[in-house]
Amino acid sequence: MFIHEVCPLAGGGAQGGAWYYLSLAPDRGADNSVGMTKNSLLTGKVVFITGASRGIGAAAARLFAREGAAVVLAARGTDALDRVVTEIRAEGGAADAVTVDLADRASVRTAVDRVEQLHGRLDGAFNNGAVPQRGFGPVETTTDEDIDEQYAVNFRGHWTAMTAEAALMRRSGGGAIVNTSSIGSRRANPVLPAYGAMKRALNSLTETAAVNWAADGIRVNGITPGGTSTEMIDTWEAATPGVVKQMTAKIPLGRMAEPHEIAEVAAWLLSDRASMVTGAIVPVDGGAGA
Ligand SMILES: NC(=O)c1ccc[n+]([C@@H]2O[C@H](COP(=O)([O-])OP(=O)(O)OC[C@H]3O[C@@H](n4cnc5c(N)ncnc54)[C@H](OP(=O)(O)O)[C@@H]3O)[C@@H](O)[C@H]2O)c1
Repeated sequence: MFIHEVCPLAGGGAQGGAWYYLSLAPDRGADNSVGMTKNSLLTGKVVFITGASRGIGAAAARLFAREGAAVVLAARGTDALDRVVTEIRAEGGAADAVTVDLADRASVRTAVDRVEQLHGRLDGAFNNGAVPQRGFGPVETTTDEDIDEQYAVNFRGHWTAMTAEAALMRRSGGGAIVNTSSIGSRRANPVLPAYGAMKRALNSLTETAAVNWAADGIRVNGITPGGTSTEMIDTWEAATPGVVKQMTAKIPLGRMAEPHEIAEVAAWLLSDRASMVTGAIVPVDGGAGA
């Protein structure tokens, strides 16, 4: 279903006669291709999304497709990915799925290769997949397994992905990368020390890659969500009942974010409308980090 809204431009509308046609969903062309609608944020772009089987990544896949992108969704959970892909296609979007384990470098490179096989190019990448810590507690009780997993999935996986993504983007003249960090990267994390440390390391990598790759026409930015209603937070709440209430109390806007509200910022950063933004780490936290 394609939904279009007609919005009057300032000074236009019924009086001035000038109207801006805003597409909220991609149109299909004669060849059944999607994403050629004028004025959508990501029209005509190929975007790769990790952690796309649920939560923020799945919301991003839906939003980016509505904004005209052909999306390639990646995660470990094949069935969950297929459900999101089916949903996007049913609404007229272009979507494919590829299985990836961010802990496995070869798997990450193969997933990016799959994007090239499907589309021959890559314009945007949303590196968003992550695992929560298995144990919650201070530095001295954090297990070696947790430290290793946080490093392999939440940091090294994105490094490997970014390198492969940038190589593919260079072949078509550039692109944009957005990494999902966390509000936890900005401060002490008394019960999630390994998670916070790897997210802060990801911020550093984001800024450095932005400088390294600017001359290649590749912008690299990060977002730091605050508390967002997803399975990751459900896991934390189950382990530490009351944590959602405590978190919410510290959010000036007075509520947790919905996944699509995080995806909106990523969509803008991936779009050409953010053409002068690179090396930025953008808070999306309802003011919690202010
Ligand atoms: N929710 C929050 O409050 C919050 C706050 C700050 C930052 N964040 C960040 O936002 C991002 C998305 O989190 P979310 O809340 O949407 O979490 P989520 O609902 O738990 O989703 C996590 C996603 O990452 C994927 N993933 C996990 N391990 C993976 C692996 N080894 N290889 C490939 N994919 C893997 C999961 O898919 P499979 O399990 O199918 O692989 C899933 O699609 C994460 O980077 C998270 O750190 C979230």
